[in-house]
Amino acid sequence: MADDSDAPEVELEARLAEQDSFEPPAAFVEQANVSDPGIYEEFEENWPECWERAADLLDWEQEYSEILDDSEAPFYEWFGDGTLNASYNCIDRHIENGRKNQAAIRWEGEPGETRTYTYQDLYREVNAFAAALRELGVGEDDVVTLYMPMVPELPIAMLACARIGAPHSVVFAGFSADALATRMNAADSEYLVTCDGYYRRGDALNHKEKADRGLRGVDHDVETVVVDRLGDELKHFLGQHHHDYADLVAAHEGEEVEPVERSAEDMLFLMYTSGTTGQPKGVKHTTGGYLAYAAWTSHAVLDVKPEDTYWCAADIGWITGHSYIVYGPLALGTTTMMYEGTPDYPDRDRMWDLVDKYKVDVFYTAPTAIRAFMKWGTKYPERHDLSSLRLLGTVGEPINPRAWKWYYKHIGDESCPVVDTWWQTETGGMMITTLPGIGDMKPGSAGPPLPGISADVVDATGDPVEAGQAGYLVVNKPWPGMLRTLYRNDDRFISEYWQEYSDPDADEWVYFPEDGAKIDEDGYITVLGRVDDVINVSGHRLGTMEIESAIVGVPGVAEAAVVGGHHEVKGEAVYAYVITEDGYEGDESLREKIIDGVDEAIGPIAKPEQVIFTPELPKTRSGKIMRRLLEDIANDEELGDTSTLRNPEVVEDIAEKVRGESEE
Ligand code: PRX
Repeated sequence: MADDSDAPEVELEARLAEQDSFEPPAAFVEQANVSDPGIYEEFEENWPECWERAADLLDWEQEYSEILDDSEAPFYEWFGDGTLNASYNCIDRHIENGRKNQAAIRWEGEPGETRTYTYQDLYREVNAFAAALRELGVGEDDVVTLYMPMVPELPIAMLACARIGAPHSVVFAGFSADALATRMNAADSEYLVTCDGYYRRGDALNHKEKADRGLRGVDHDVETVVVDRLGDELKHFLGQHHHDYADLVAAHEGEEVEPVERSAEDMLFLMYTSGTTGQPKGVKHTTGGYLAYAAWTSHAVLDVKPEDTYWCAADIGWITGHSYIVYGPLALGTTTMMYEGTPDYPDRDRMWDLVDKYKVDVFYTAPTAIRAFMKWGTKYPERHDLSSLRLLGTVGEPINPRAWKWYYKHIGDESCPVVDTWWQTETGGMMITTLPGIGDMKPGSAGPPLPGISADVVDATGDPVEAGQAGYLVVNKPWPGMLRTLYRNDDRFISEYWQEYSDPDADEWVYFPEDGAKIDEDGYITVLGRVDDVINVSGHRLGTMEIESAIVGVPGVAEAAVVGGHHEVKGEAVYAYVITEDGYEGDESLREKIIDGVDEAIGPIAKPEQVIFTPELPKTRSGKIMRRLLEDIANDEELGDTSTLRNPEVVEDIAEKVRGESEE
């Protein structure tokens, strides 16, 4: 039976299908924070001094005298001798500016209860919790791990850490106990703030049990603080070295903690992300450059204004939430929204219900969510008044033109620009996107690099490719929000990002983000996806090696190869090709054990969509697994050249198996 969203969909296709460029709506341009096209030239001519414009969005305790120090490239320093405090910039100064009663955070729990923190409320709780952390022993530069779902205590804990100069390391709540332990051990983190549980599609999930299991894998003593989110719904017990969050805040109620003066280059936080090897990378971001960049891009790209209600529907456990739920918007003194649950609870209109109820001005989400909304149909957004929206954004993966146009039409009513923002955990903030008050939008293409950002698409030798040709994305100049290093691993920092296209002898440093891309004659860049062994499932970055090592940890598995295959909603899905050990059957029970093993080692997001048992994997003569062929098989595409394989005959066998399973 035809879905009732089909008719408008057909009409939309007909009208918009041909259109491949959209001008920013005049009403938007008129009020945009940035609308002078001269900004591109101004930044280019004035580089790196142009970045003062970002730094000027912050209050500095001690002004910096040098903008960029590139003497130790690629270990760049930005605003190096300036000092500031991020918590002061996100809270105190707005109060000093007479805005203490403005809402800083509006939160809605999945069951529907709401909380609002004004800037004054935020000040009180951040100070009390900062005092509590100090009393627990947290000193400047001690890494505090935050393993929490979307509750207001998460940004409060981040800002409390920032206030006392303790870098935080947020671990996504959907990650497993093992993933928590790995990250706490890697950072020698002796403090953990976590939560008893949270709601997901109406169920109360026990989070503390997972945190406790994680703690058993930590190789040093830890002081743990537990937020009671679920109350009577889930009873929990506090053991030795466990503290109740509310008790700590009550005990320190009314205390004020002087914001610690931090050097611009001091670490604000660590964020672990997936890379090519099994070991996650500890991306280090700084207090001055990162915060200035998050604030500047929130201002220029997201057009955030203090009087807005702004909603980035990401999870704070990822970089998007750090930069665009917490630091960017709060540095600009706006009202930032947080929602605890899923978009389809209690019904598939929850997001639009929230936009309507809170009169959201700016909405920023991921293509995977947009694809799901599109699949559910227009009747859900049509139930609500979305006219408060002024700007829409997307991030995390390529967005196909059809989804872009659906978002533009059915959510933005053709009157909101859509910014497709390319960036990464490592870049700290947006790098490639149109400026909504200036550039024409081309669905499917992120746009030109932002002013002051020098990016290009090159071939394997580093020469720029011609318009329309696929190549590798590179960034040729440093920028304030860039990662400074990988925590305790400068060598890996160089080898991961700076080896491929740099010429150290000539002191020429080129950053390689490990994405493929195309560029058109107008300089618009379309990012095609990762060229390393990282896959992107629902906008979540996962290392295939991490998943493989979880799978080979399951008894009965001899070898495994993991690739990403196209998925209608998730973008990519995990395909695992598995060879069993002698004496083991590739049966349903082993399949379940593999899926559970991945869940346990990483978390549910990494669970394989398909597990394909095979007696062999396609390998080159030198023994390297031909992943590209496995990807072709997963995508049911024509198989590439198999002539260089040691065992070409296995390819067709595997392909048949996958086809068979898809038909089941
Ligand atoms: O492959 C690119 C993809 O997401 C990767 C970065 O993932 P992560 O560090 O988890 O950060 C995600 C949120 C910033 C990139 O290397 N990516 C991100 N944004 C886009 C994108 N691919 C295409 N278009 C985008 N707008």
